[in-house]
Amino acid sequence: MDASPASTAMAETIRQAAERLRHGGLVAFPTETVYGLGADATDDRAVAKIFKAKARPRFNPLIVHVLNQKAAAAIAEWTDLSEKLAAHFWPGPLTLILRRTPDCRISPLVSAGGTTVALRSPAHPLAGALLGMTDLPIAAPSANPAGKISPTTAAHVQAGLGDQVDMILDGGRCPVGVESTVLDLTADHPMLLRPGGLARADIEAVTGCKLSSDHQAETDTDNPIRSPGQLTSHYAPNRPVRLNAQDVASDEALLAFGPTPLQGAKITANLSKSGDLIEAAANLFAMMHQLDRPHVSGIAVMPIPAHGLGEAICDRLNRASSL
Ligand code: TXA
Ligand code: MG
Repeated sequence: MDASPASTAMAETIRQAAERLRHGGLVAFPTETVYGLGADATDDRAVAKIFKAKARPRFNPLIVHVLNQKAAAAIAEWTDLSEKLAAHFWPGPLTLILRRTPDCRISPLVSAGGTTVALRSPAHPLAGALLGMTDLPIAAPSANPAGKISPTTAAHVQAGLGDQVDMILDGGRCPVGVESTVLDLTADHPMLLRPGGLARADIEAVTGCKLSSDHQAETDTDNPIRSPGQLTSHYAPNRPVRLNAQDVASDEALLAFGPTPLQGAKITANLSKSGDLIEAAANLFAMMHQLDRPHVSGIAVMPIPAHGLGEAICDRLNRASSL
């Protein structure tokens, strides 16, 4: 193991973070997707603190982070398909919705009182170290106030929730930049509840079948929401967002994509000059934070292709634009 002073200091910081979690505290930590607001998933009071800190509606269930498949199988009914998907994609940006085991120790609040639980194993060394050190499942939604832009740096967490958390582990910028893909495995057919950091096509290559999509959150207001995090007004910046911009006004901010950004905006940030959707996903939330300034009238967004990680990017931008 690396014994440099920097890594020794980080090991001590992780030890302190683990201690806070074991005592019911809130610790924000980096994952490969976005920063999470973590608490011991088996501790009702600690989990309740997450909802309070984020001002998150109680009916919106949380993702539980686990170290590996073994930890997952202690919480949820582990199936052939979950094993196959986890073998391919864990640790990584894939969240699986599964049935809770009868003796599941996870707080019912995490499942919003339901019979299922969302599990993922994050691919970030600090998240892995924290899970290993606590030996606990860690409930963690994105570490932002409910409905606001997700954080991809420790500074974003500090600005949004700084006074609500016991500790923020700083792991620099999150490399993927959009949240995990959420896949429901509790029905007959796997259903994509949220497009995210793992592209639909990569999952379909392993399942060998097309994933169905969840349109219920958008259209069916009578039934309980299947993936409540998918309420339309989510990821909202303070300034209005205008999609598929073909031109830009001089008082607008521009979120550009590709080699020929529109000219004339007050401020411009380019998601990817080369038109690379992986780079664009990594930049998305940081650039929305950067452009969301009081002195601009709104944020104009250039067209972005909807394939690969573009599906998740377009999903988040659609939500940001519908207030
Ligand atoms: O990348 C990520 O997934 C990040 C990092 C921190 O891991 N976490 C994250 O968590 O985005 P959150 O809480 O902001 O989003 C969780 C999503 C929501 O859309 C929620 O409705 C859905 O997962 N979800 C959680 N548990 C569920 C369940 N039992 N059934 C259906 N949907 C569930
Ligand atoms: Mg979130």
